[in-house]
Amino acid sequence: MKTILCIGAGYVGGPTMAMIAKKCPDIKVLVVDIDAARIQAWQSDRLPIYEPGLAELVKATLNKNLFFSTDVAAGIREADIIFVSVNTPTKTFGEGAGRAANLQYWEKTAREIKANATSDKIVVEKSTLPVRTAEAMERILHSGNKTVHFEVLSNPEFLAEGTATKDLETPDRILIGGHDTESGHRAVAALADVYAHWVPRNRILTTSVWSSELSKLAANAFLAQRISSINSLSALCERTEANISEVARAIGMDARIGSRFLNASVGFGGSCFKKDILNLVYLCQHYGLTEVATYWEQVVTMNEYQEDRFAKKMSSTMFNTVAGKRIAVFGFAFKADTGDTRESPAIRVCRYLIEERAAVVVTDPKALENAKKDLADLAGKITYEPDPYKAAEGAHALAVITDWEDYATLDYKRIYDSMVKPAFIFDGRNCLDHKTLFEIGFNVHPIGKIPLSHL
Ligand SMILES: NC(=O)c1ccc[n+]([C@@H]2O[C@H](COP(=O)([O-])OP(=O)(O)OC[C@H]3O[C@@H](n4cnc5c(N)ncnc54)[C@H](O)[C@@H]3O)[C@@H](O)[C@H]2O)c1
Repeated sequence: MKTILCIGAGYVGGPTMAMIAKKCPDIKVLVVDIDAARIQAWQSDRLPIYEPGLAELVKATLNKNLFFSTDVAAGIREADIIFVSVNTPTKTFGEGAGRAANLQYWEKTAREIKANATSDKIVVEKSTLPVRTAEAMERILHSGNKTVHFEVLSNPEFLAEGTATKDLETPDRILIGGHDTESGHRAVAALADVYAHWVPRNRILTTSVWSSELSKLAANAFLAQRISSINSLSALCERTEANISEVARAIGMDARIGSRFLNASVGFGGSCFKKDILNLVYLCQHYGLTEVATYWEQVVTMNEYQEDRFAKKMSSTMFNTVAGKRIAVFGFAFKADTGDTRESPAIRVCRYLIEERAAVVVTDPKALENAKKDLADLAGKITYEPDPYKAAEGAHALAVITDWEDYATLDYKRIYDSMVKPAFIFDGRNCLDHKTLFEIGFNVHPIGKIPLSHL
């Protein structure tokens, strides 16, 4: 039986390996992490991350051909193929701080593989990395004693949180980058055979390592760019009485543009978009491509502008002060169907409101624990309330940050009755029925549309 190891049991490593285990009963899948609590959680009924369908997926294979452990060295010795799926956050210190990827976890993993491998290995970059990282990894792996051969492949992950299990089951494509050598071709074929257990061969794309590494950064840059583009126009809509949903529909029906990822919002979040674009920006700067770097950096700048614009609009609409006013923040996760709050627009919005001395109460069905960690420095200044009805009681305004499906079907009459008047709703996702809310009595402020105001 072939053994696959994945180093890093996070949002990518856990779900990806659970899917491989389910689709490949002939393969033993080991997932290791240095975070013992996380490993323990994967083995329990309370998984460390929330993702629809994930609990069932893990349950189906756990301890049959899917195993979680903290023994990284033993995993390396046993595996034929090693996926590396550790975190690659933005560097917060030194050269490239705030833009470049922090590759310290990555390099540590390479050294561990080198130290423990006793037979040839295929090493797969699953994490998102700067272009030509594989080169550095190969240098580390092949330094010193050269008895073991390592073939490094790039196989970026395109899953989106909230739809991870679906994305893994029916991916648009699987991308495998390998070297144009005999051992490179063999390794690419071996990895393609794993995916071919359930992915049609014509969706398994093979490229050079460098194209594969860059394609992941490019995909995230393009997706985020669409959001920043539509958000930039939402600001213009609010000034001109054009309606952003109508504009999005009109342009999205053009087959060359397409309709997806055209929803205006308070801004994009998630651990990847900002980090990957800044990584791309840093790479361009490194290669002296200043104009290219500036072009992509603007996507991030526009996102921050949109988050600030939303927060400031709340204050200006509520008679230029939110001080002392209770404001219920509906949703803290960066998107629906995940508990992940990394880079969530809620963080910036809450910080602004606290700075303006509002009494902020945050509600979210899955993300309150992460929210508490993100805003730990504001402990005592923010309240956390799982029940949205209780969160809204006595509030002057609701700020919808996450498009949780449940929020569309709450009893807004009951909520309105419990709030201070005039009552405001700032819908940062355009996910509520604005007309009905207005008829109930709310002053409704969507993104990129004329507000519905009784004032
Ligand atoms: N989250 C997403 O939606 C997503 C999607 C596609 C790609 N990616 C990329 O995948 C990578 C992982 O992202 P994530 O969201 O799963 O991160 P994560 O932080 O959830 O998980 C990474 C895990 O790696 C572990 N780790 C770090 N160093 C280790 C070491 N030396 N040995 C063993 N374990 C170690 C950490 O403890 C952590 O549990 C990143 O490069 C990210 O850009 C993420």
